Amino acid sequence: MALALSLSSCRSTVPYEADTTTNELKFLAIGCGPYSSSEQVWLEECVTLASHRGQGEFLVHLGDLISGGEPAPPAYYAGIAGALGRAAMPTFVVTGDNEWNDQTEPDLAWQVWTRFFMHYHRHWDRAGSLKKMYPKSDGVQHQAGRPENFAFVRKGVLVVGVNLTGGRVHDAAEWDQRLLDNEGWVRQNYQRYSDQVRAAVILAQAAPKSPFTESFRTASKAFGKPVLYLHADGHTWNVDRPWPEQNILKVQTDRLGIAPPLLVTVKEDGTELFRFDRQFMRGPYLALGTPRTIRVVWRTRREIDPVVRYGRSPNRLDRSTCRRDILVKTKDHANPTLALHSAADGVRQYEATISDLTPLTTYYYAVYDGNQLLAGGDRTYRFMTHPEPGAESPLRFWVVGDSGTGDQNQADVHLAMRSLTRSRHHPLDIYLHVGDMAYGSGTDDEFEWHFFKPYRRTLRNTVCWPAMGNHEGQTSSGVTGIGPYYDCYVLPTRGEAGGLASGTEAYYSFDYGNAHFIALNSHDLNRSPDAAMAQWLRADLAQTAADWIFAYWHHPPYTKGSHDSDTEAQLVEMREYIMPILEDGGVDIVFTGHSHIYERSMLIDGAYVTPTIAEGVVLDDGDGDPGGDGAYRKSNGLRPHEGTVVIVTGHGGTGLGPRVGTMPIMRRVVFPEHGSVMVDVNGDTATAIMLNAKGEQRDLFQIVKRGRVTPKRLANPFQLPGETGSP
Ligand SMILES: [Fe+2]
Ligand SMILES: [Fe+2]
Repeated sequence: MALALSLSSCRSTVPYEADTTTNELKFLAIGCGPYSSSEQVWLEECVTLASHRGQGEFLVHLGDLISGGEPAPPAYYAGIAGALGRAAMPTFVVTGDNEWNDQTEPDLAWQVWTRFFMHYHRHWDRAGSLKKMYPKSDGVQHQAGRPENFAFVRKGVLVVGVNLTGGRVHDAAEWDQRLLDNEGWVRQNYQRYSDQVRAAVILAQAAPKSPFTESFRTASKAFGKPVLYLHADGHTWNVDRPWPEQNILKVQTDRLGIAPPLLVTVKEDGTELFRFDRQFMRGPYLALGTPRTIRVVWRTRREIDPVVRYGRSPNRLDRSTCRRDILVKTKDHANPTLALHSAADGVRQYEATISDLTPLTTYYYAVYDGNQLLAGGDRTYRFMTHPEPGAESPLRFWVVGDSGTGDQNQADVHLAMRSLTRSRHHPLDIYLHVGDMAYGSGTDDEFEWHFFKPYRRTLRNTVCWPAMGNHEGQTSSGVTGIGPYYDCYVLPTRGEAGGLASGTEAYYSFDYGNAHFIALNSHDLNRSPDAAMAQWLRADLAQTAADWIFAYWHHPPYTKGSHDSDTEAQLVEMREYIMPILEDGGVDIVFTGHSHIYERSMLIDGAYVTPTIAEGVVLDDGDGDPGGDGAYRKSNGLRPHEGTVVIVTGHGGTGLGPRVGTMPIMRRVVFPEHGSVMVDVNGDTATAIMLNAKGEQRDLFQIVKRGRVTPKRLANPFQLPGETGSP
């Protein structure tokens, strides 16, 4: 009981939710290990990974929790039980040889194993929840006289666990009896459930052994449906159909530490029901989308034979990349363009270029290791190419800043966006992140846990175009272009996606049809008007033929949230040096973060002085809401100084800071709550909303660019009741 209590108190905070929308069964399996106390951290990583991914209905450890030989102290097993106990989903433990028959005293070892791991899954049985989850089998069944063997039915799949170990035959009679018991248990469950299930999964530590094997083959043939025999013991990945009974697939999974937990999917139908995902270290995710090309990026822990297949339907991926179109980056590669500076030894980053695509077209893709599917092939792995340059096409983009550490706030903000895009039947075309995406210091691990994992469902089908925040700036340098930020993003330096070549990934621009996006570095580059970034910005604005300009970076030119743009150098300089260039170029909306709040300006122009005042710089002091004071109006096309809306969207998930005051030009709209910004551009109208973490719309404004508008400066713009001017 004490164990149960300690397990529940350290359970993952990420709640597991069974996917009730599909009858596909997904579960996770961990192979042999840990073999020492120092390897327990790998187990902890695996459990965290399994829980964060939230993909499996249950987790199974296939045995070998220790190296064989001398018995380990109970504290060792308690550590393993505690680590597995943090899994978000019910976890089963199959008997391994190292903790039993390979020990010097097997009987004593069995007692210890029984104490910690017999019926381990019952720790998750809150108020009979396992019975609810596995109703057809009346919960999890155990074999009479051999209680470590278990069976249940879930989503039309029979799952059977057996005590079938490798290693030393410590007692020949015991082995014979146990192998027969195992075969009897499998056969009995085949017979009992054969009319209720479409497939069976047998879980064991080791490969089948005689006399189990012969009877198992016969019983499986009579069962007649696909059978997966999943085991560990051999430590390396192997997929095989070793017997004439071709309905039996035998898979040996990796040992702990080689790969993340194996994700097994039992599909609803098809010729091959079992699918295996040895789970990427990262991705796949998308980068550098253009009208005719895109990059698919991912990382693995081991060398693979990388192939990306793609096509117009998830069921017909009829095109594939050539090997020469895939860059493979590794740690400290001699060629600097192929070097990862921040990843662990052995990690590989693959960057596949897909070209010859048709503009404004949806494609589906999957990543393979040779012929072995690693990820993709369903509707969530897709991309849509950009429209032709200059073309008018509906555009939806999402803007997030300061997104936190993978906690519930970040998840809620993400979920709110996903729910909205689903209900409006228009997925995101573009995702902008305005920085502080890898708290606390932008390390590779922090990118993984605080950015890539939380947003994985979006990143696999939407390109994220980032701007670097100060937290990433602790380990990445805009000056050298080196660090985890520059390792993981693939950004345009040569004008690959429209816009003028910047020669650096630190700042860049790209086009989406008739919209031009500009990402700047406000953190660690020279922000002065005659420095390289400002010079490039002027030239880039001069050459664009777009109708809309959206610019973004991290440090806000206007804020009184958790930062003060009247006093902090980066913020002051972006306002005094960069805002004039952008407004000369006709910028429409500027997005930033850093200040952990949502603040939004009225339609302004020329607010460059310090401290910022509202008088004489507001062109429209209404709320910009067509259902309220009316949309902000500008002339069609691009004209300088007709008004900008400047947004602080630093409320994407991290802790909300205390406000230092009220920014005069933003006094209409301040929301100190978590959320994000979604923008829709349709022809001459851009509509932006702030969507909070509960999915509520908290702000809406429109900019309509139509006809000819003559801007007027308001001497005394909107004030809150009781205010008497700035500041
Ligand atoms: Fe920041
Ligand atoms: Fe921040």
